[in-house]
Amino acid sequence: MNVQLYSRLLVVFLTNTVWTRNIRPMYDQPDTYDWSFYSFECPQECFCPPSFPNALYCDSKELKEIPAIPARIWYLYLQNNLIETVTGKSFVNATQLKWINLNNNKITSNGIEKGVFGNLKNLLYLFLENNELEEVPAPLPLSLEQLRLARNKIATIPAGVFNNMENLTALDLHQNKLLDSTLSSDTFQGLNSLMLLNIAQNSLTKMPPTPPANVIQLFLDNNSIEAIPENYFDATLKLIFLRLNNNKLTDKGLPSKIFNISSLLDLQLSYNELTKIPSINVHLEHLYLDNNRIDSINGTQICPVPIPGDHVYERNLPRLRYLRLDGNEIKPPIPFDLMLCFRLLHAVVI
Ligand SMILES: *[C@@H]1O[C@H](CO)[C@@H](O)[C@H](O)[C@H]1NC(C)=O
Ligand SMILES: *[C@@H]1O[C@H](CO)[C@@H](O)[C@H](O)[C@H]1NC(C)=O
Ligand SMILES: *[C@@H]1O[C@H](CO)[C@@H](O)[C@H](O)[C@H]1NC(C)=O
Ligand SMILES: *[C@@H]1O[C@H](CO)[C@@H](O)[C@H](O)[C@H]1NC(C)=O
Ligand SMILES: *[C@@H]1O[C@H](CO)[C@@H](O)[C@H](O)[C@H]1NC(C)=O
Repeated sequence: MNVQLYSRLLVVFLTNTVWTRNIRPMYDQPDTYDWSFYSFECPQECFCPPSFPNALYCDSKELKEIPAIPARIWYLYLQNNLIETVTGKSFVNATQLKWINLNNNKITSNGIEKGVFGNLKNLLYLFLENNELEEVPAPLPLSLEQLRLARNKIATIPAGVFNNMENLTALDLHQNKLLDSTLSSDTFQGLNSLMLLNIAQNSLTKMPPTPPANVIQLFLDNNSIEAIPENYFDATLKLIFLRLNNNKLTDKGLPSKIFNISSLLDLQLSYNELTKIPSINVHLEHLYLDNNRIDSINGTQICPVPIPGDHVYERNLPRLRYLRLDGNEIKPPIPFDLMLCFRLLHAVVI
């Protein structure tokens, strides 16, 4: 298959993954279900759809506490309430839980009873976005596939809390209070399935410890990162999306071949302090460099291959299709050698 088509399909596939999974309960019912075994109790504050006996909807009800969750429940919706505490007594019978959505509540770290999540051995998704957590709850079940902790006040990650979550694919910690010192070299150790790591909008001044090898999306926007260490991306062989917008990157902070990452398709470096266009890999498709301090472009210098002649096959051309350079100090016109190099460019914003 043509490389270009393949990578487009991959992007479409990736952006759809989470969404597709979210609608799973519509179709996902136990195969062999012995209904007589379970009672159909339903907490009075909640809605128990008869056609969906594994789901419990207790969202947007101004609840201050979590009701007792019946044993049959797999999918638990508690978002948009006023819940402050999570205690074991709500979950004593709910050992089959797979998803818990507790987004948009008022849960504090002190309000979480020790071990309450760790006991849920079948839990796959835990959503605790937009609460008042100051640390990552621990312990957590090793079965987790998605852990979403964005928009809290997290400044502490207990040692080893994520280690060996072998099925975790998404870890979202954006908009918290993480410092360089919060992250240690083994924080992400053993996350062999991790594809999305979002640490945007924290207080990092350095790149985090090397992400696990299978990460596809690494988001670090809105920190204060000044530099990227030499060889930082050597082990991340699957990285496709890298976002470092709104940081403090300078030319000096970027080793010369740092973005020569052959898997990378989308590189975002808007709102930094760059004066030069960094060198890129021939496969890169989208490059965002707007709102830096770049004052000139030399198409010959930034071309990842020698300027292609007229008879080069399309498949051998640099793949760049979208380039943003607005908010810099570049004066039109766009240099001709830029167009000669990047023949597949659809748009240059200057
Ligand atoms: C747990 O299940 C048992 C047996 O069905 C029941 O008696 C008890 O009230 C339940 N506890 C909670 C907190 O739901
Ligand atoms: C990870 O997923 C596999 C396949 O579904 C499963 O067999 C394994 O037990 C899971 N690992 C953990 C720690 O739950
Ligand atoms: C970063 O901060 C800017 C300005 O405060 C804001 O507009 C943008 O949405 C933020 N982006 C992310 C990804 O946090
Ligand atoms: C980028 O890396 C490739 C190998 O992945 C290498 O062939 C190429 O010369 C490198 N380009 C630059 C500009 O270093
Ligand atoms: C661009 O760079 C090339 C190679 O370094 C050089 O030969 C050329 O003169 C430069 N072009 C301009 C317009 O400065």
